[in-house]
Amino acid sequence: MKGTYIPRLLSCPERSFFLFGPRGTGKSTWLKHVLPEALRFDLLDAAMYLELSRDSHRLEAMAGDRPEHSWIILDEIQKVPGLLDEVHRLMEDRHWRFALCGSSARKLRRGGANLLAGRAITLNMEGFSSAELRSSFHLPQAIEWGLLPFVCQDPSHSADILAAYFNTYLKEEIRAEGLVRNVPPFVRFLAIAGQFNGQAVNGHNIAREAAVARATVDTYFAILSDTLLGHFLPAWRPGLKVRESAHPKFYWFDPGVARAAAGMLRDPLDRLWQGTALETLLFHELRVYNEASRKCRPISYYRTAAGVEIDFIVDVARRRTPSPPHVVAIEVKRAERWDRAWEKPLRNLAALAGITVERMIGVYCGNRRYKFDQVDVMPTADFFESLHRGEIF
Ligand SMILES: Nc1ncnc2c1ncn2[C@@H]1O[C@H](COP(=O)(O)OP(=O)(O)O)[C@@H](O)[C@H]1O
Ligand SMILES: [Mg+2]
Repeated sequence: MKGTYIPRLLSCPERSFFLFGPRGTGKSTWLKHVLPEALRFDLLDAAMYLELSRDSHRLEAMAGDRPEHSWIILDEIQKVPGLLDEVHRLMEDRHWRFALCGSSARKLRRGGANLLAGRAITLNMEGFSSAELRSSFHLPQAIEWGLLPFVCQDPSHSADILAAYFNTYLKEEIRAEGLVRNVPPFVRFLAIAGQFNGQAVNGHNIAREAAVARATVDTYFAILSDTLLGHFLPAWRPGLKVRESAHPKFYWFDPGVARAAAGMLRDPLDRLWQGTALETLLFHELRVYNEASRKCRPISYYRTAAGVEIDFIVDVARRRTPSPPHVVAIEVKRAERWDRAWEKPLRNLAALAGITVERMIGVYCGNRRYKFDQVDVMPTADFFESLHRGEIF
């Protein structure tokens, strides 16, 4: 697949937008494809950076006599947050459209920018999805190494590519962007956050393991989630009588990057890690679908007081008290054979009063599909296809 452009699921909006996502997820490449006529400014270019950070009015002069509605791409916008004020003015005065691309909104917000007061929508880019890779999607490879474009292009060097990605991106870029002042404790934290991928976040334990203050752990997690390197999966609360409540889980955006963070690129993966990596992948596909379809359904996990879990709960109808929540419940297993005991948490949830479980789905790594009395059991690839066809929610 090296060299050939893989079409992405995101579609280009009609009006100005922000595009955020971790480095290397394909943002710049996508922008060049969907807006081939746009004038493009790359703030990674040192000369460009210097010129525009000294004098943001240069932007208008550099764009010249463009007609109204022309597109202008500002890549790596977080490097010059102050440019947003000028962008805002040019949107009003010249009616140009802007594609504003960067790793995260964190620096932009901190720089005092108002994110254009709602004048631009926000898109998020992730690693490739199964629906984009199609026949080049290989589940075992994705579980082991994830779906970053760099990795998919050259799978035989996945470990080296991920090591380089993790070291340059996370360590240097986070330092360069000034996201943390003191780097060594943050690097210790990253290793622990890697090992805890997919687990309920216990801030005290993580603070102890990383030898940093409890409040610092919260700041660090906020950096990971603002830069879209990781996502919290909240505990689902069925109603007001919440005996069932739990900490959110934290998943890295990509199983390969989680593995790099955990320092396990050279180690064989045990079953437990593979199970979590499959969940990480499934969560990724759910987010990509949510984003591309613009459904934006809340996704959470469910944990009962007895400690029984369901991996993913998708709220499929907007909640209006007093009407009951409608959900799709999904349980994922890294196993070639489906064990019917795994259906129990799904059935127990469906039996609760005041909840409508529209679908119960088991996803596993075997080849056969089953319908066991309301529970759909599907191979992972089938599930991904159904999801992207809009059949799951
Ligand atoms: N749609 C795509 N099809 C094929 N390769 C891609 C695609 N998007 C990204 N890549 C590969 O991944 C690399 C990183 O993508 P890039 O667009 O630079 O990411 P970002 O701008 O998000 O940091 C590119 O150089 C290219 O080799
Ligand atoms: Mg880029």
